[in-house]
Amino acid sequence: MSLLTIDDLTVTFGDFTALDHVTLSLDEGDLLFLIGPNGAGKTTLIDTITGRTRPTSGTLTFDGRPLHGMAEHHIVRAGIGRTFQTSVVFEHLTVADNVDLAASHHLRPWQLLRRRRALPEAVTHILERVGLTERLHDRAGTLSHGQRQWLEIAMLLAQRPRLLLLDEPVAGMNTDERTRTGELLTEIATDHTIIVIEHDMDFLRRYAHQVVVLHEGAVLTRGDLATVQSDPRVQEVYLGRTPSEATT
Ligand SMILES: Nc1ncnc2c1ncn2[C@@H]1O[C@H](COP(=O)(O)OP(=O)(O)O)[C@@H](O)[C@H]1O
Ligand SMILES: [Mg+2]
Repeated sequence: MSLLTIDDLTVTFGDFTALDHVTLSLDEGDLLFLIGPNGAGKTTLIDTITGRTRPTSGTLTFDGRPLHGMAEHHIVRAGIGRTFQTSVVFEHLTVADNVDLAASHHLRPWQLLRRRRALPEAVTHILERVGLTERLHDRAGTLSHGQRQWLEIAMLLAQRPRLLLLDEPVAGMNTDERTRTGELLTEIATDHTIIVIEHDMDFLRRYAHQVVVLHEGAVLTRGDLATVQSDPRVQEVYLGRTPSEATT
């Protein structure tokens, strides 16, 4: 059984069709790269999975449960976490406190009061996983751009999602940071299901096995990178350019 099933999903904003009869499914453990020109509907798809945007028609099912009509925080609790194109970290809090706060999100007030003063083991472990142990006590505002993205991924992991939706996590990163992020995603994918919006060709070549191309709100094609790249429709969409040149 697939973990996420999107069936005939359409989202319109007034007269504008942002998602046009999208059908897509994800199995547990999939690491899926979602690409497409600017305005293709990639972020709208994530917004709709997470309940931020309501479907106009069609259905979304997660782990056998319908998602449409569910409140955003219930969808988070059901096991779906996402990052945003803009940052959500608390700059004046330490790296560890940001992750701790994200981890405490689901706790009731009495549970929060009873918590030990020491950092929970889960938080320490997550910081290790994303490579931020050395910055644990530093304010989040002092992190480099790449480290801040890893902190956001850490905050997401702290909420223990089964499905992670990452919106352009390597945008603005340098080569080393991209490599580190690619390795991190590959590692996280060993025990999570992930959709990553990304269109840097070099990054895709190194880390993408499954790619879905979205164009004008519709799924153009799905397959491994070589198959997708050799698809004439994909080449046409990108006007003969590589996806990384055709987008921001
Ligand atoms: N809340 C909204 N209201 C109206 N139009 C929107 C809204 N959200 C997105 N759009 C439009 O839908 C299209 C797809 O946007 P988006 O999903 O952000 O594209 P992508 O992430 O692929 O670049 C764009 O033309 C955008 O202007
Ligand atoms: Mg977007």
